[in-house]
Amino acid sequence: MVNSTSSTHSKPWYSYSLGVLGAFLVILSAAPALGQQTSGATLTFADHVAPIIYDKCVECHRPDSIAPMSLIDYATVRAWAPIIKDRVANRKMPPYFIDKTVGVQGFEDDRSLTDAEIATIVSWVDTGAAQGSMVNLPSVPFFEDNVAWTLEDEMGRPPDLIIPIPDPFNVPAGGPNWWMTFYSDTGLTEDRWIKAFETKPSADGFPVVHHAVTSMEFPEGGGGFLSEYALGKTADINPPGTGQLIKAGTRLNWNIHYASSPDGLDHTDRTRLGLWFLPIDEEPENILVRSHMADNEDLDLPGGEETIRTDGYEFMTRNIRITTFQPHLHNLGTRQCLEVIYQDNRRQTLSCADWDFGWHIAYNYVEEVQPLIPKGSMLHVTSWYNNSNSNPWAGDSRNWVGFGQRSTDDMSFSWISWYELSDEEYTAAVEERRARSIAGSD
Ligand code: HEC
Repeated sequence: MVNSTSSTHSKPWYSYSLGVLGAFLVILSAAPALGQQTSGATLTFADHVAPIIYDKCVECHRPDSIAPMSLIDYATVRAWAPIIKDRVANRKMPPYFIDKTVGVQGFEDDRSLTDAEIATIVSWVDTGAAQGSMVNLPSVPFFEDNVAWTLEDEMGRPPDLIIPIPDPFNVPAGGPNWWMTFYSDTGLTEDRWIKAFETKPSADGFPVVHHAVTSMEFPEGGGGFLSEYALGKTADINPPGTGQLIKAGTRLNWNIHYASSPDGLDHTDRTRLGLWFLPIDEEPENILVRSHMADNEDLDLPGGEETIRTDGYEFMTRNIRITTFQPHLHNLGTRQCLEVIYQDNRRQTLSCADWDFGWHIAYNYVEEVQPLIPKGSMLHVTSWYNNSNSNPWAGDSRNWVGFGQRSTDDMSFSWISWYELSDEEYTAAVEERRARSIAGSD
């Protein structure tokens, strides 16, 4: 069972899956490795747990990364074992909070644990967290340092253009929050299509940058939203066949939220945006747009209330294909769901995800399941909040909270990435899905 420290946020389905399914899965995952004779099948760090942790945790839990402790060596993992059990059993770690029991399934870069992996870790902790034979330990994966561009390998080169904020910004210890606006010239002399982008605080700035949004200002007016970075968010590659236009002479507008570091030290940041372009003679088939959807700015979150729901709506004036869902709430948010209401009133849940203000995660649908939304329908975003003492992020829970820019105010909308489909493209995409689902069901 999930242990008794589970908070009120823990989802009941989960207790079932660990209680009922869990026992079954543990037996499976504890099955001896090929050719190995094990009677009683003791789970060990070297054989069963390290492979999971090296695969799903140490990207962040290693020296000089963003997490509070390294989980590479057995002694540390063992010392943290009860807390690790709690975080993985409640799906708080790794940070990837999409609800697997409802809506569309199938995401790129899904770093969550499988039910079997969770059962293995929980059972290993419960049975004494044995070390096992260290000769069986997998090798520790290799990582670039924090300031390295994580997309460099995948894109095969460093960014084509790197745009820093104009000057270093100092964030003194123990100060308030800052919401800074900066402008940087891109220096671009020709129009380009953006394939991928990544925002990186500088090494010293890493612990103080909570949020960095960029938008483009074209020289002749217009422009638009470009990228959003927040703690835990790394990089985005636009889906195949899509691109975002950036024009010659574009000025970049930065909106950065700085907060003092919990380590009690001053930090100086120089955040940079790295852009990778499509080849100069290549035009994308579709123009990708990232936008707020279904904003609700009329929030009413009374003090002391544990479960408050709000709703926002967005009418679709064209057919769209959704590539990414990213909830956006502030401190009090606990969960968000996205659904579509069709013109004939049928409703379909697309995705639900739990929310933790420390993590802003983009859930990128794999191509085969990207939601196809016909014009005339309505996107409906439902958000839940907890403004009571049971929410560790809540300030003074006697206070009413409404909409606003500070993280102590709240918000409700989804960042949605999408591109438009003509009526013919829409019909063809739906037909293709239908054909595939028929082929898949026999
Ligand atoms: C994307 C980066 C990332 C990944 C992947 C990740 N963690 Fe974390 N982890 C963090 C950060 C940052 C914190 C501290 C802030 C927080 O709790 O959100 C943390 C906190 C924790 C804590 C609580 C520490 C405390 O002081 O209470 C535990 C336990 C933990 N992680 C275990 C794991 C395990 C086990 C995995 C893999 C199954 C994992 N994490 C994967 C970044 C990560």
